[in-house]
Amino acid sequence: MKEHITVFGSLNYDLLVKQQRMPKIGETFIGEELVEMCGGKGANQAAQSGKLKMKTYMIGKVGNDSYGDIMINSLKENNVDTTYIQKTNGRSGTAVVHIMPDGEYYSTILKGANFDITTDDVDQAEEIIKNSKIMIFQLENPTSVIEYAMTKAKEHGCYIILNAAPAKKITPNMYNCIDCLIVNESEASFYCSREVNTIDEAKMASQTLYKQINGPVIVTLGKNGSVAFDGTNEYFQPAKEVKSVDTTGAGDAYTSAIAYGIFNNHDMQQSMEFATNVSAIAVTKDGGQNSFPVLEDLMNL
Ligand code: RIB
Repeated sequence: MKEHITVFGSLNYDLLVKQQRMPKIGETFIGEELVEMCGGKGANQAAQSGKLKMKTYMIGKVGNDSYGDIMINSLKENNVDTTYIQKTNGRSGTAVVHIMPDGEYYSTILKGANFDITTDDVDQAEEIIKNSKIMIFQLENPTSVIEYAMTKAKEHGCYIILNAAPAKKITPNMYNCIDCLIVNESEASFYCSREVNTIDEAKMASQTLYKQINGPVIVTLGKNGSVAFDGTNEYFQPAKEVKSVDTTGAGDAYTSAIAYGIFNNHDMQQSMEFATNVSAIAVTKDGGQNSFPVLEDLMNL
């Protein structure tokens, strides 16, 4: 029986620097606050899935440093089974995230252990891949290993969601495996080779990208909401008006909330509305995983 969700992806230790603006070249700028958080797109998505009470596994890799243990423990606290998170010699993935006063961010990631993951690590997790109803992927690991895991997941009949972030080239075989693609406006611009900023441009992008995969395409637009196309219908979901403190990980929370909708056979509009509520809560607090809502928070909305 396929009763769980598996996230294949990255774990990063995030160093969030709160500051008024980015420095100019050659300028030394004084920031306001340093906040340390467990992050990484994969780990964030796994944590949000666990917080939404889906049985969640994560496949990934951390270093043999203290960050690795902290990140594994954080996932455990968020109901994620970490049996298939391996350790490697060397450093864990790290991110330096600069948060502006309006909550928007600039992020730089250092690959670390995320790029030491191998096809052997995927093979070791085959049993849980086989029994996954849904598998979620992002692009913070080597493309060849992501492709290998995706192909295996497809062979086992999993529903595959790709949050194509950060944007990088994906192979034709990967496109063939994807059942649902989630991108933001800058990733949509990359994959469509044209600017995607407005709602209309995002609608066009979702139609263009739909032709390359097996199911719905969702384009998120931050404060402008999100759009989707499923081959028949076009969808638009406005964003919720909230006071944004930190948008780090909001896209990850949104992705897992869409997975929740698919897991529970909700329709696309219902799933987008739910995901919008989830990410709206996530941006009202600092950081990624610890700012994500639990299922009860959504029921109270
Ligand atoms: O999506 C947000 C995440 O992107 C951060 O947690 C950071 O680690 C980067 O991977």
